[in-house]
Amino acid sequence: MKPILVSGIQTSGRLHLGNYLGALKNFVDLQNSGKYDCYFFLADLHSLTEAFNPEDKHKQVIELAADFLAAGLDPKKSVIFQQSQVPAHTELGWIFNTITPFGELNRMTQFKEKSDAQKENANVGLLTYPTLMAADILLYDAKFVPVGDDQKQHLELTRTIARKFNAKFGETFTEPQPLFTAATRVMNLGEPERKMSKSRSHPQNVIFVDDSPEEISAKIKSAVTDSGSEVKYDIKNKPAISNLLTIYSALSGEAIPKLEKYFTGKKYSEFKVKLAELISDYFADYRKKKKLLLAKPQTLITTLKSGSAKAAKVADKKIHEVKKIIGLAI
Ligand code: TYM
Repeated sequence: MKPILVSGIQTSGRLHLGNYLGALKNFVDLQNSGKYDCYFFLADLHSLTEAFNPEDKHKQVIELAADFLAAGLDPKKSVIFQQSQVPAHTELGWIFNTITPFGELNRMTQFKEKSDAQKENANVGLLTYPTLMAADILLYDAKFVPVGDDQKQHLELTRTIARKFNAKFGETFTEPQPLFTAATRVMNLGEPERKMSKSRSHPQNVIFVDDSPEEISAKIKSAVTDSGSEVKYDIKNKPAISNLLTIYSALSGEAIPKLEKYFTGKKYSEFKVKLAELISDYFADYRKKKKLLLAKPQTLITTLKSGSAKAAKVADKKIHEVKKIIGLAI
């Protein structure tokens, strides 16, 4: 049997370059390596922790399904599903709530940041977000979880929960490991000290994967740069150019030192023109595919339903086992 790999993305807005380079691109590469049994899902339950209206939510589910397929995820190779259609996730999440101390959730960076940023909607779901995430992963006995750097702490807690449950009730869950890419923390184009974010960055500072070439070019042109004029990777003194170089390298497959050499003596503005071209060209096929997929939403729904049924088979078996272990199955 191949090792199991699980990951998800929230249905909470348009996908950006950070989501793509930190997660989705890696999902596709890992799927195509043929080395893993892959499960990729739309984390629609997690996305309810941010304000939403039902019409937008429905659109976001369809859109993210189109993003998954346009990027190259393939329902013949991976199980692609919708989290809310597999009830075992919330069941196991609840069970994990009862073995997780309040203090461990309360100190999570994402909880602190998000509950501060949305004071009028600081809901309990933000606090218990990580126990649901642990359920998403542990239900499938995942060995690997490809995510961006901002999910490190949640993965660590997932491992703690697995260990704790196993110690208390007997060996039940596999401890998963995160998989990171070289672009595991893509920064905001206007504030290179902050990560690029769906909900908290100004859209002008975010490259969305389906932005038009004109939008990409305008955003890259107005991206902040550092003092000096050299195109050189130096995260401490040149965070903005280092971020742009990381993006360039991740999309072109060229190592950063080679890029520095190529751009020696060239101005920031020339580098930016090349980068904008690279991003537009890279996503040209993606934009086309996504448009075609969105023209047939019913096909996307069928794909999700069939993936969710496959995931539910595996998840139901595990939750049944868990209920038996903790004395709930009769
Ligand atoms: P979400 O939707 O916020 O982010 C999806 C993925 O994108 C990564 N990411 C980034 N990577 C690099 N640079 C950035 N600026 C950047 N911004 C986001 C995230 O790390 C993530 O991998 N909690 C998850 C969703 C989730 C999940 C799971 C993931 C729910 N359950 C179980 C794995 C396993 C999240 O934040 O999604």
